[in-house]
Amino acid sequence: MSRPICIVTGATAGLGLATAKGLAAAAAHVVMIARDEARGKVAKEAVLSAVPNATVDVDVADLASLESIRRASERLHDRYPRFDALINNAAIVPQERTLSKDGIELQWAVNHLAPYLFTRLLLDRLAEGDGGRVVNVTSKMHRRGRIDFDDLQFETRKYAWSAAYCQSKLANVLFTYELDRRAQGLGVTSNCFHPGVIATKVARRFNIFTRALSKLLLKTPEQGADTAIYLALSNELDGVSGKFFVDRKAVDSAKASYDEEVARTLWEVSADAVGMPH
Ligand SMILES: NC(=O)c1ccc[n+]([C@@H]2O[C@H](COP(=O)([O-])OP(=O)(O)OC[C@H]3O[C@@H](n4cnc5c(N)ncnc54)[C@H](OP(=O)(O)O)[C@@H]3O)[C@@H](O)[C@H]2O)c1
Repeated sequence: MSRPICIVTGATAGLGLATAKGLAAAAAHVVMIARDEARGKVAKEAVLSAVPNATVDVDVADLASLESIRRASERLHDRYPRFDALINNAAIVPQERTLSKDGIELQWAVNHLAPYLFTRLLLDRLAEGDGGRVVNVTSKMHRRGRIDFDDLQFETRKYAWSAAYCQSKLANVLFTYELDRRAQGLGVTSNCFHPGVIATKVARRFNIFTRALSKLLLKTPEQGADTAIYLALSNELDGVSGKFFVDRKAVDSAKASYDEEVARTLWEVSADAVGMPH
């Protein structure tokens, strides 16, 4: 059987880099998405030094730019016949309200709209294999999230990085479930997971929470990546879709994440924002 081809976004650091290494060690062909070419090169070297016989490519895309995402999708279409897994991992937590190149609040752009658009653009290639898998990295923090359709980008309410983060992570779960409903006929599955609390740039924003936890409760990036690799590659996941996982186990996500009307509206609002059909 040919190697599964897996894309990982945010593959230059933290959980994404550990996921790329783990997938490579499991003999997948890994496509690392990096926003910066030099950082992408360093990350690729790190994978090759951990797994010397790895098959690994880097593609450069700024997920804060809709045009950059579209160009990356075109290159990936030209280069690969199919994708077996897409791991939407990249995220950002700016302290101040910041706008993307398209004038969109950065957390909404990178944490939600980017995986939404990237997945939709690559769906045809994910449908090519024996059941491509979309794996969205969310967080337990989605439980504190609230989708405010009147002010998704904190234009009128005061920007709070934690509220913007939690909203984007709830959007990841709602998107996962809506994609599951919409992609059933394609044979593409859609799941999401919480990796645990890992000492990375994203987690450092939450230093109030992480300080309160003992070091023993913090996971390494490798431990956090375990569920990502499981969801992307394990035969146990064949046909399993529309679920939220923690430590390889499907568990209930927040009540708000099961609201199908909110998920449908979010899908349509997101489609309008990125210029895709409903
Ligand atoms: N760490 C935790 O405790 C924790 C807990 C729950 C959930 N999570 C989730 O886990 C995922 C990974 O987080 P992490 O902790 O590993 O974060 P991290 O170490 O800060 O890594 C984030 C990755 O995203 C990339 N990225 C950021 N903005 C980008 C852009 N505009 N275009 C392309 N790539 C971009 C970064 O690239 P650069 O290297 O160029 O900056 C980096 O590779 C996130 O979805 C996060 O919400 C993390």
